[in-house]
Amino acid sequence: MIFWAERLGRSCFVFCVLTLVVCASADQHIHAENPQIWNGAQVFSKSCLPCHGANSPAALDLTDPIALRRRATTAAQVVRDGLMPPWLPSESGAPLKDSRKLSATDRAALLEWLDQSAQGKVPSAVVTPRPSQECEIAFRVADGWQVGGDPGMTLRSFAIKQDPTMNPDAPKFFNAIEFVADAPGVVHSISFLWDELGFAARLDASDPAPGYDAVGDIGLQVSGSSGGVSRLSTLWQLPKGYAMKIPIDAVLVAEIHAEGRGKVESTAGNVRFLTPEFPCKLVHAIAISPSRPATIASACEAVSISIRAGSRVQSIDVFAKDAKGQLQCVLNIPKWNERLSEPWMFDPPLALEAGTELIVQSTVNADAQKTPLDAHAAAMSQPMIVVLVADKDADLIREK
Ligand code: HEC
Repeated sequence: MIFWAERLGRSCFVFCVLTLVVCASADQHIHAENPQIWNGAQVFSKSCLPCHGANSPAALDLTDPIALRRRATTAAQVVRDGLMPPWLPSESGAPLKDSRKLSATDRAALLEWLDQSAQGKVPSAVVTPRPSQECEIAFRVADGWQVGGDPGMTLRSFAIKQDPTMNPDAPKFFNAIEFVADAPGVVHSISFLWDELGFAARLDASDPAPGYDAVGDIGLQVSGSSGGVSRLSTLWQLPKGYAMKIPIDAVLVAEIHAEGRGKVESTAGNVRFLTPEFPCKLVHAIAISPSRPATIASACEAVSISIRAGSRVQSIDVFAKDAKGQLQCVLNIPKWNERLSEPWMFDPPLALEAGTELIVQSTVNADAQKTPLDAHAAAMSQPMIVVLVADKDADLIREK
């Protein structure tokens, strides 16, 4: 089945109002019987509550002080284990934008407070407003696809056909993707790609259910080559001055990874592609895996990196090996967890000289080592990595 994209110029007013209503009601849960605000409570509000409010991706509301106190031990444990706040990359790679890694001081204050069963008042979370950028492509995704009670990740891909009226003012570029899920947290991630050959549309049309039962990857385009969102970061945004091109006559494909949470839930939601500021440079995708390194043809800047890897993978390293053989660690993930995966942005963009080779190394975990490595398992043990780069000398795009 094919979903028709509408092109809208509508403002984000409705979303803003909804966001305000949600955070105002969450706020009322926080009681003030003990007015003292511990430092740890402040850290909790800043670093935990953005994802642990009433309608948040974690499906775990910690704004209610009673619920929070009941879970204080678990909360302290997941912080000690390095699982929360979620952030997979270590500090050994290139600097990344919006790292959630806690400073040693904040971590200590948070743990002290959680260990004292989270007493006192908790300041309400600071909610980041939705982007006010113009939006020209907006569509529903995964309408009609539901996941059931069984835990475990499932995947479907959807071909999103463009407006058949072919608006002559159709947008040609975007630099951000926003996903607002009907039921936040069910969808773990969405990876986008453009299918210029029409395979996805045919697969989608021949599958009676919504979407089709396969990875989105079509021909040479890799899922994620056109950006993606995750439940941890529902707004994917290239840095200012960079944009992606929307190919004419191509079908947009959304590969959706979702997980059942003990009840039947919809995976659907609203996606918006947001218009860049001009002038900007175009970015394009380089796909690499342990068996497929890539050599940079001309000097470029890497802006984003995203990974698709199964649960057999333990660690992932991406290196840039320059023409002189010098190795630089671009990204290091000591303990891969597909449940906490998201696209990462290099901040600042990472300069790569011509002739640099991008290399991936990965290991499999102890469970995977015990099972025989057939062809399927071997494929599942290979992380697929998409790096978005802009050529250093690329022409600037000055207008829509
Ligand atoms: C970017 C979003 C995000 C932030 C920030 C975040 N969490 Fe979570 N949290 C999640 C998600 C998503 C899950 C569900 C994990 C899963 O499905 O594996 C979760 C799960 C949890 C759980 C349940 C774990 C379990 O095993 O039952 C606890 C407790 C928790 N988080 C505490 C925290 C604390 C404490 C912080 C702040 C230090 C925090 N979280 C920050 C997204 C977040």
